[in-house]
Amino acid sequence: MHSSDFGPDFTWGIATAATQIEGAANNYGKGLSIWDTFAGKLGKIKNGGNPKIACDFYHKYSEDLALVKLLGFKAFRFSIAWSRVLPLGRGKINKEGLKFYHDVIDACLALDLTPYVTLYHWDLPEALSKEGGWTVYSINEAFNEFVRLCAVEYGYKVKNWIVLNEPFGYTSLGYMLGVHAPGLTGLDNFLNAVKHTAIAQAEGGKILRSEVINANISTTFSCSKIIPYTDKQADLMAAERVNCLMNRLFIEPALGLDFPTANWDILEKFAISNSIWRYKEKMAFDFDFIGLQNYFPLVIKYNTFVPVVNAWEVKAKSRHKPYTAMGWEINADSFYDIIMQFASYPAIKNIIITENGAAFNDKMMNGAIHDQERINYFKAYLAALLKAKKDGAPVTGYLVWTLIDNFEWAEGYKAKFGLVHNDFKTQKRTIKNSGYWWQNFLKK
Ligand code: NOJ
Repeated sequence: MHSSDFGPDFTWGIATAATQIEGAANNYGKGLSIWDTFAGKLGKIKNGGNPKIACDFYHKYSEDLALVKLLGFKAFRFSIAWSRVLPLGRGKINKEGLKFYHDVIDACLALDLTPYVTLYHWDLPEALSKEGGWTVYSINEAFNEFVRLCAVEYGYKVKNWIVLNEPFGYTSLGYMLGVHAPGLTGLDNFLNAVKHTAIAQAEGGKILRSEVINANISTTFSCSKIIPYTDKQADLMAAERVNCLMNRLFIEPALGLDFPTANWDILEKFAISNSIWRYKEKMAFDFDFIGLQNYFPLVIKYNTFVPVVNAWEVKAKSRHKPYTAMGWEINADSFYDIIMQFASYPAIKNIIITENGAAFNDKMMNGAIHDQERINYFKAYLAALLKAKKDGAPVTGYLVWTLIDNFEWAEGYKAKFGLVHNDFKTQKRTIKNSGYWWQNFLKK
């Protein structure tokens, strides 16, 4: 297999996110984000990690973009930290913040790297979180202001836009389970966050459409093939509930379909009491492409003790399947299946894999990192992707997660996903063997 098997116009790129790499979290006029404050609370992040310095991308972006280029990628995905350009989330603009992203974009363009800009990659301004964040309607006005600002500011240089990163990720982890910022829990918080997020997703798309000429607009979804543990009715239904949450909750309203409830009373009641159907038009937008982000499948078993979903994940380890340092099952066939699941929506005409990759416990030996497991992971997942493409899935690009080992949210700096190793004391970058593997794969 070679990159040319995917066709001459296939987009190959690298994906990153502001909080995970930028650092300069309290500098140059940036306001606090919920991840800055969350990381300040005891026990929230593994080993007390925080995004204050991260990979210092703020100062090292030129060097890092040169690495992206050196490895042979053609596209670079990064996010705009909302609180860097609007420190309080709305109102006063931080000119220095705006300039930073101009500099990053210009550096991409000078290297002939196509920028893919994510507007919301989880770093809500703390000031907005204090008002209720995604759980309250005022978030939508503030988000629209942020989107418009970025669209007008950068739209003449940036054509590829991603409105949200993994809406199910941040609404579930941050507003129901409380393990991500802002650390809220409970069904009410979650469902309200879902509602405002689904509206923001579409409204963001509409603003980009009106402000950016020739825009290529998307939003991204975390997705996982859901496999019932047995074919008993209870397991099948538990699996369908999880599928509804993880794979259907945000794409279906975006496509103008009914809010998916999987015949599940909890979601149905919420939809009725919030008159969700009234928002149907507000939640729909004709995205130019859909970003899929996949890492693993989930095997689901009915469990009466788990609140809300009555479903339980049977981990890869206990099923004796291979898994990464995150405990995530390595299963390239499930990557194929989930792409085909999304490709089966007739309205989806274009898919880009906006994230895929793996964390392993890399060891540096004599200055080199022989991360063969990561190379094997990419080989298997890329073969599955090629098969999906040959079988008709409209996939036009693939972005690796990620360039450099970085701040992996609640996992802190322990989880290493990069093609490039970072020494966090010296900020020295070292290309791993997987990076060289990609370089070779992408060679003409
Ligand atoms: C999803 C998120 O978008 C990204 O920020 C995260 O680091 C990766 N997946 C790996 O967990």
